[in-house]
Amino acid sequence: MSPTAPHRVLVTGGAGFIGVHTVNRLAAEGLEILVIDDGRHASGERLPPAVRLETVDLNGAGAAEIVVRFRPEAIIHLAAQGGVSRSVRDPAGDALVNVVATVALLRASVDAGCRRFIFASSGGAIYGRAPRLPTPENTTPAPLSPYGAAKLAAEGYLGMFARTFGLSTLALRYSNVYGPYQDGTGEAGVVAITCDRLLSGRPPEIRGDGQQTRDFVFVGDVADANWRALQASARGAINVGTGVATTVQTIVEELARIAAYQGAISFVDGRPGEVRDTALQTGRAAKLLNWSARTPVRDGLTQTFTSFRERAGRAPAPASRGPAAAEAREGHGSRAGSE
Ligand SMILES: NC(=O)c1ccc[n+]([C@@H]2O[C@H](COP(=O)([O-])OP(=O)(O)OC[C@H]3O[C@@H](n4cnc5c(N)ncnc54)[C@H](O)[C@@H]3O)[C@@H](O)[C@H]2O)c1
Repeated sequence: MSPTAPHRVLVTGGAGFIGVHTVNRLAAEGLEILVIDDGRHASGERLPPAVRLETVDLNGAGAAEIVVRFRPEAIIHLAAQGGVSRSVRDPAGDALVNVVATVALLRASVDAGCRRFIFASSGGAIYGRAPRLPTPENTTPAPLSPYGAAKLAAEGYLGMFARTFGLSTLALRYSNVYGPYQDGTGEAGVVAITCDRLLSGRPPEIRGDGQQTRDFVFVGDVADANWRALQASARGAINVGTGVATTVQTIVEELARIAAYQGAISFVDGRPGEVRDTALQTGRAAKLLNWSARTPVRDGLTQTFTSFRERAGRAPAPASRGPAAAEAREGHGSRAGSE
């Protein structure tokens, strides 16, 4: 562990997809970890035994007190309403989690004497139809969804808390994260959905012509970026992606090959208004976090499909993924590449 690394870390949303990978990474470094996650969209994967879990809503009474009592040296804030379609249907509900809970957590972090605050933002949602690909961080944000607008608003609060309270804040703008434990139901990302379909005997499906491109980053690499961000002093916003644009059709065909699927791939209508291409410039992450994505997409897809297959063999599905959870995660695809 680096001498600058914090020891006591709070991870919100630590039971979710990116959260579980992040918590495992931090636990392997020997950190003392508290997870706050109300379980509404938990991955169902077990957290390491030494990790404490508080099952509370960040907007609920008592959440701030838990943060203050734990006195984290650093916070990784992953808890969010992640559904883009859902944010369109219920922008106020989205803002309640993605903005209001974030502001409350920022306030609690100052009260707790926390020094470092890492926020999970979204490169795909914040830039909108970016004029430049791969997109650098200094591009004027132009979100197209309430989800993207909420992420941008939260980044605004991060800046304010940095200026006014001296909190060291950093927004990591993830691209399309994929990997083991991602939810493959509802409107999740194309990788998770395709794995799910292949394993349940349904033909893989491509929305639109399949030539739309996304920047697919493996979740293990994202967990590593989170760990490096804790140790670094960089502030502001940093893209976390590969800089490589891959077509959705390439992803689906590669997964079909890995699954030894011989049947046809079906094409269905794309979603109106979807961004055609996204890819994030990665130089700032390399310079300020000494981080770059290491997992080639073929390896990442193989690991993901293998994990999904093992999990399918371990059915029944985790109880935490009930109908309410399915509703909560609707729309993940817009940011995860299936849109
Ligand atoms: N997955 C991606 O491709 C992607 C891309 C860009 C940004 N992000 C961001 O990264 C973060 C993690 O994403 P993920 O894919 O792991 O999502 P996820 O839905 O799997 O995990 C989020 C976790 O937060 C918890 N949660 C939600 N609202 C809560 C609340 N009010 N109080 C307590 N816990 C709450 C859920 O139960 C869940 O376990 C989110 O902030 C998301 O917006 C994800």
